[in-house]
Amino acid sequence: MTIPEIFETMDYGPAPESDIEARAWIASHSGSFGHFIGGSFTEAGETFATRNPANGEELARITQGSAEDVEAATTAARRAFPRWSKLSGHQRARHLYALARLLQKHARLFAVLETMDNGKPIREARDIDVPLAQRHFYYHAGLAQLCDSEMPGHVPHGVCGQIVPWNFPLLMLAWKIAPALAAGNTVVLKPAEYTSLTALLFADICREAGLPKGVVNIVTGDGDTGAALVDHPDIDKIAFTGSTEVGRRIRQATAGTGKALTLELGGKSPYIVFDDADIDSAIEGLVDAIWFNQGQVCCAGSRLLVQEGIAEDFHARLKSRMAQLRAGDPLDKSIDIGAIVDPVQLARISDLVGGNTEGETFQPAIDLPAGGCFYPPTLITGLSTASHLMQEEIFGPVLVSSTFRTPDEAVEIANNTRYGLAATLWTENVNLALDIGPKLAAGVVWVNATNLFDAAAGFGGVRESGFGREGGWEGLAAYLKPDIATKPVKSNGPATPAHEEFDGIDRTAKMYIGGKQTRPDSGYSTQVLSPRGKPLGHVGRANRKDLRNAVEAAQKAAGWGKTTGHLRAQILYYIAENLSARGAEFTARLSDLTGKPAKSCKAEVETSLERLFTYAAWADKFDGAAKSVPIRGVALAMHEPVGVIGAFCPENAPLLGPISLLAPAIAMGNRIILVASETAPLAVTDLYQVLDTSDVPGGVVNILTGAHEDLAGAMASHMDMDAVWSFSSADISGEIERGAAGNLKRTWVNHGRNPDWTNTAGEGKRFLQAATEVKTIWIPYGE
Ligand code: NAI
Repeated sequence: MTIPEIFETMDYGPAPESDIEARAWIASHSGSFGHFIGGSFTEAGETFATRNPANGEELARITQGSAEDVEAATTAARRAFPRWSKLSGHQRARHLYALARLLQKHARLFAVLETMDNGKPIREARDIDVPLAQRHFYYHAGLAQLCDSEMPGHVPHGVCGQIVPWNFPLLMLAWKIAPALAAGNTVVLKPAEYTSLTALLFADICREAGLPKGVVNIVTGDGDTGAALVDHPDIDKIAFTGSTEVGRRIRQATAGTGKALTLELGGKSPYIVFDDADIDSAIEGLVDAIWFNQGQVCCAGSRLLVQEGIAEDFHARLKSRMAQLRAGDPLDKSIDIGAIVDPVQLARISDLVGGNTEGETFQPAIDLPAGGCFYPPTLITGLSTASHLMQEEIFGPVLVSSTFRTPDEAVEIANNTRYGLAATLWTENVNLALDIGPKLAAGVVWVNATNLFDAAAGFGGVRESGFGREGGWEGLAAYLKPDIATKPVKSNGPATPAHEEFDGIDRTAKMYIGGKQTRPDSGYSTQVLSPRGKPLGHVGRANRKDLRNAVEAAQKAAGWGKTTGHLRAQILYYIAENLSARGAEFTARLSDLTGKPAKSCKAEVETSLERLFTYAAWADKFDGAAKSVPIRGVALAMHEPVGVIGAFCPENAPLLGPISLLAPAIAMGNRIILVASETAPLAVTDLYQVLDTSDVPGGVVNILTGAHEDLAGAMASHMDMDAVWSFSSADISGEIERGAAGNLKRTWVNHGRNPDWTNTAGEGKRFLQAATEVKTIWIPYGE
């Protein structure tokens, strides 16, 4: 073709990236890979093929990891842990820096290999995946350096099992390995079965960087290998990114084991366009939101919500933009759309779209390469908000669209999903953007931009999109635990009645729901005895119905989350004031309930007052942050309340325990359902009078009494509760974690050990962190 002809047509010519180096690297491993354990590659075992999805070509053979392989890798990681965790932050920083440098030096090789294995356009692998992976290691070299001084009183978990998906194989590896190592953990990582090659190349650079043996171990294989890692008893923490279904299974499998867990799961993220938006920019954003990586992105803006007045124009412009997208060989530098990762995923997408009978489906007439896993960009309009495809994660280049009339309706539709990963909104009105952003149920919100990521900014979801954050200080915190002393909980058990004569006064403490005293639905009550068996009164035995009522009341009190920190502080001080006024009464009550000397009971009341002051102080000081992300703009890390929290109270501090849970929860804007301790519930039921006189709105604090074992499962599986905490003496931690798998609510349970509530172990930032979600709101500046 001559130059004038090129100018005539303005067609793209082929611009293929060379794959010679990548093929040479595969050949240097004889085209067949074992695992990377204890600093070297094992012999290949039983293998399966990894293929280039753009043409079906076998690239290499990968070993299917067995339980023995997982055992060997875990043993290597355990052996390496003591030395690695005892290195200074600076020494670990040097290792992370060396890894970052080598990732940079081999950037092109990583990008080409990723594209060949995954099918993503080389432009994306080269300009997004690999640079972000490098940035992650550089940033975490910094966090390692600062960890000792900035995170005192924290220790690493130990050995982390990490399971990553196939959509961003190297980037997800970086998101997992960098913070784990920075915090002093060692790791066993399992890449996804479709895309193991860049993890194995990373293993090579760990050797080249001189990383101590066993600090990073890579075991390849499918879900069975992943399950073996999850089940291994010597793993201290599991970090998983992948489907919600597998995340749920992992929640169940780790329940009651004491393993820490973070889950980054699926999404159906809304992309909201208001009628005053810069439409051309919003359409370009949408191209990135849903056709980046063929839509195989957990936070893809896959649900377009466009304001009714501009919908027709917007869809028309979008369709003509779609017709300009170029699908082709992923190694071609000028294509937009590459291959779907595997025929299995291609079939899943085709089935979901093919099975849809609603709305109107548009696919532009663009050329798709013959053979290989290609799927055209697709827009489905006219769906109702309840349609299957509006709710289900398609995980492909398929955008579904709906309209809205008012901002309130936009929020309602946006939040009408079981997920809560990300959201995008486009408007030229800053007030509207800043009003809507906080109302969206999502861990990440992009304003007039989309799919922005950075190591400094937390990423992760709420609801069924999982829990925990990756990136930033909050991501590092997920790889550390507080170094505090705990003691096994021991229950005094029910006392033996002393058969004292009834004095004729009915002392049945009622429960407290929605600001009202209520009788138990069951009609049953239990006698409360002093340790010597003296009858002190009765409490109701709450059942599921009482719990349901409490959750309903707590849901109705959602306005509490929108009040100011200042107001919440005032109310906490007021609670303290009123508790103080009744100090003698509570001291006597504690003395009766526990049999402890009055002096120690008085001290418990005093510490409770101090604790209320602590969280009154924190109510307007647990600040978010403006993150230094490498764009012209800010990423705001906002602390938001978790929602409705259920909390089982400890026995060993019948008043101070509940206050230590209630105060941080309500200080951060949550509503709480306290389940009083079984042996000393009257210290909690007495609180209702204090709450009533302290202007606490009905439903913000609810009090139930009864057997913890009766309520644990019901509370954990309740779909309208957002978190469950347990410091109970009853053995309910496992049941709570298992039950929580239903809506993947956050849990914080004691696994049979409690802190000393009287000192600093019983208060502080970890309580505030448990009571908040971090929402990252990205706001670019300028034109
Ligand atoms: P998946 O969740 O099965 O795979 C992710 C990782 O988990 C892989 O490494 C896999 O080997 C491992 N795994 C599978 N079963 C496991 C188990 N029982 N225990 C431990 N590890 C296990 O995702 P899959 O099947 O590849 O994709 C299916 C759907 O999941 C996609 O269509 C998409 O909707 C969603 N997905 C979401 C991702 C996200 O980033 N949110 C990533 C990948 C998939």
